[in-house]
Amino acid sequence: MKKFVSLFLALVMVLSMFAVATAETETKKVGISMPTQSLERWNRDGSYLKEEFEKAGFEAVLTYSDNDAGRQVNDIQNMLADGVDVLVISAIDDGALNTVMDEAAELGVPVVAYDRLISNDAVSYYVSFDNYTVGVLQGQYVETALDLANAGDKVYNIEFTAGDPADTNATYFFNGAFDTLKPYIDAGTLNVVSGQTEFQQVATAQWNTDNALNRAQTVLSSFYADGTVLDVWLCSNDSTALGVAQAIESDYAGTNPIIVTGQDGDVANLANIVDGKQTMTVYKNVADEAVVTLSLVQAMFAGDVDGAALAASFGVPCAYDTESYETTPGNKVESFLLVPTTVTKDNLQYLVDIGLYEMGEDGYLLAK
Ligand code: GAL
Repeated sequence: MKKFVSLFLALVMVLSMFAVATAETETKKVGISMPTQSLERWNRDGSYLKEEFEKAGFEAVLTYSDNDAGRQVNDIQNMLADGVDVLVISAIDDGALNTVMDEAAELGVPVVAYDRLISNDAVSYYVSFDNYTVGVLQGQYVETALDLANAGDKVYNIEFTAGDPADTNATYFFNGAFDTLKPYIDAGTLNVVSGQTEFQQVATAQWNTDNALNRAQTVLSSFYADGTVLDVWLCSNDSTALGVAQAIESDYAGTNPIIVTGQDGDVANLANIVDGKQTMTVYKNVADEAVVTLSLVQAMFAGDVDGAALAASFGVPCAYDTESYETTPGNKVESFLLVPTTVTKDNLQYLVDIGLYEMGEDGYLLAK
């Protein structure tokens, strides 16, 4: 009998060790919710994220919600019902996600806000680029290209186009650019001919190219049809810069070169840079953003996120920032912020060198 009991105990021990081992190696499921496929960059983000997580042994569910905030809520609810262990979300409309974020919190599913912050305390971490700096780089480009500091009495005319008010990033981009150029606006060196200097006046719903095109056409026909010279159009990103460049082609009578800024390195915009229809873009390496997100999630599941050490381990510059972003007033969120880069006609090769684009025989870049 004694022998039988100890045999039984040994069996129980073996079985429970087996249970622990299988629990530890159990496949984790990540829900990746991206905003839309209609903007080029999110296609890259979605596929890099899915690929990285799958390579690391995760099961990955990827959805795009067609820039429809209600649909994104639905997509995330389906992921929760499907039993995801972690959510990686880039919000379409920050304000629309509160209920589903509360649902995630109730289920104990951690959320990583990816690229765009979500104003809800269910968010455990934020992975992005330094968004204010994106705007600063655009402003600094203009400052240097026109040598504004030494402009003397010269006056340059400028217009602004910003992003989607539903996107938390959009104000950071706009403020970074506007703060950099404000001293020159105040001094009269830069003149916003339309007078439209408030974010709400220059914002672009859904970052949509046609919306940016329509507003730019209206501004050009209202303020520049009399031959007034336009020198700069500061656009927050590439999808809006595409619309503005089209409006300049169709509705601007002058022939002078106009500085047009952007962000993202979308292929159509890189072609415009080669052709001189856009002047610069701020490039954000979203392959790096995916790698950072994966490493963070792995550290979360290992129960060990030492933010500073983690940020130092990526091999690319990444700030671990515990001060700049809040999910609700007073509730700071640990953020991992990558560094954006200015790309112009002169350093397009940089995009080839980092391995994400190739130079076509026609001199235009293609995404790999
Ligand atoms: C922002 C993002 C930019 C740009 C824009 C439009 O949130 O940071 O890179 O893509 O959305 O989708």
